[in-house]
Amino acid sequence: MVNITFVGDDGTRQTVEAPAGVSLMRAAVDNGVKGINADCGGICACATCQVYVEAPWFAQVGVASEEEQAMLGFTNSQRPNSRLACQITLTEALDGMVVQTPEQQT
Ligand code: FES
Repeated sequence: MVNITFVGDDGTRQTVEAPAGVSLMRAAVDNGVKGINADCGGICACATCQVYVEAPWFAQVGVASEEEQAMLGFTNSQRPNSRLACQITLTEALDGMVVQTPEQQT
């Protein structure tokens, strides 16, 4: 199992546990994390699952595809460490990861 901590824009922290192999978005939605709306269900078409991945985890979640970068570009809240949670697959190596949710999604 993989433990992930979500930090809201108000500083609220929620740690969830999910199996490796599921998406970060699925881990959030299944545990009722505020700020991960996932309107498109995980097909990289809404950008309502944006997270800011804290260092050092950002280097470990892989590189965003061109499609994901384009979706992030449609938001007005993109940062250098932005990713779409539906495009990150959890692995045991990500155990302990911390991500923030944008103010616009809360
Ligand atoms: Fe829609 Fe991630 S859930 S882009």
